[in-house]
Amino acid sequence: MKTEIIQIDPEHFEDSILDKACEILRMGGLVAFPTETVYGLGGDALSPQAAAKIYAAKGRPSDNPLIVHIADMDSLYEITGEVSKKAEKLAEAFWPGPLTMIFSKKDIVPLSTTGGLQTVAVRMPSHPVAMALIRSSGLFIAAPSANTSGRPSPTRAEHVEEDLKGKIPMILDGGLVGIGIESTIVDMTEDVPVILRPGYITQHMLEEVIGQVRIDPALLRVSPDRNIVAKAPGMKYRHYAPKGQLTIVDGELEQVVRTVNERLAEHEMRHEKAAVIATEESKDKYHTREVYSIGSRKTEGSIAAGLYDILRQMDHIGAEYIYAESFQGDRLGHAIMNRMLKAAGYHKIEV
Ligand code: TXA
Ligand code: MG
Repeated sequence: MKTEIIQIDPEHFEDSILDKACEILRMGGLVAFPTETVYGLGGDALSPQAAAKIYAAKGRPSDNPLIVHIADMDSLYEITGEVSKKAEKLAEAFWPGPLTMIFSKKDIVPLSTTGGLQTVAVRMPSHPVAMALIRSSGLFIAAPSANTSGRPSPTRAEHVEEDLKGKIPMILDGGLVGIGIESTIVDMTEDVPVILRPGYITQHMLEEVIGQVRIDPALLRVSPDRNIVAKAPGMKYRHYAPKGQLTIVDGELEQVVRTVNERLAEHEMRHEKAAVIATEESKDKYHTREVYSIGSRKTEGSIAAGLYDILRQMDHIGAEYIYAESFQGDRLGHAIMNRMLKAAGYHKIEV
């Protein structure tokens, strides 16, 4: 299949540039598009055939449900059962934006979209291209991240091309996304809502609007534990992973640098390709040319935005061993470490 790539300036575009994309979606085909978090792989959420195509293109297990993207509140009531006051307050505060909420589903949402669950995940994205695509197509758009299952989520159209070129008919290229990690997911079917995936919208931000919010215990573990099953099916898979072995090195910076430099020397002796993921503040301390700065510790947002791009670069340079500093910032830190630990298969050393 030939993949058409359409460049769109998110700040200035005419809706007519999306005509062909809307046509593809209405016919049950797939279109990758930018959102403010990561690129999504969109299809008609009410069509089981479109859902099947999404799972096939991503190589994704079909028990891993998709997020339904909407552009207005009426759409929410059309596909969900009970919408609590708390959910309405969160929508009011954070939609459009990087928040996904789980509700009981109505029958019109096929089980193939929800991975067999009686609940449905819904998000109203704020990216102007995503918004325009939903509005102009007149559809509910099911969209997982537009990567091959298991690889880092795409934060630019080139990442989508790397994974899906030849497998889907169209990519809307809106450039680099702003946030760079996937939306926060909150289960609203419980009296006390539960965070199933940490993201840009933090527990603190949610609690300021609706009071108590819990965190799925599966997210707080530091190593995989078969006895704690994550409630978001997708969170149980190894994810975001580069091909090389990623190790997170946690501790005082000086100790971290010393340990990593020792490891680098060992890899060099064995002629193994090793690389380091560091920050602007520390990048000059490592004894290798393969140091990649993920951004400054002073701006957590830049670290989130650069994470997946750096993980993909590790594959491009053929890194067999990757060492990354740990990032426990207070705002986005939980989301960043959640993704890094998963990418590392929970491989972490304390020094
Ligand atoms: O930022 C985002 O959320 C991006 C953009 C494209 O919107 N989308 C995204 O989709 O990250 P995906 O498919 O990569 O991740 C969806 C996550 C999975 O972990 C899935 O298991 C969970 O949401 N999920 C979806 N529906 C669910 C449900 N009904 N109950 C529990 N978890 C659900
Ligand atoms: Mg994903």
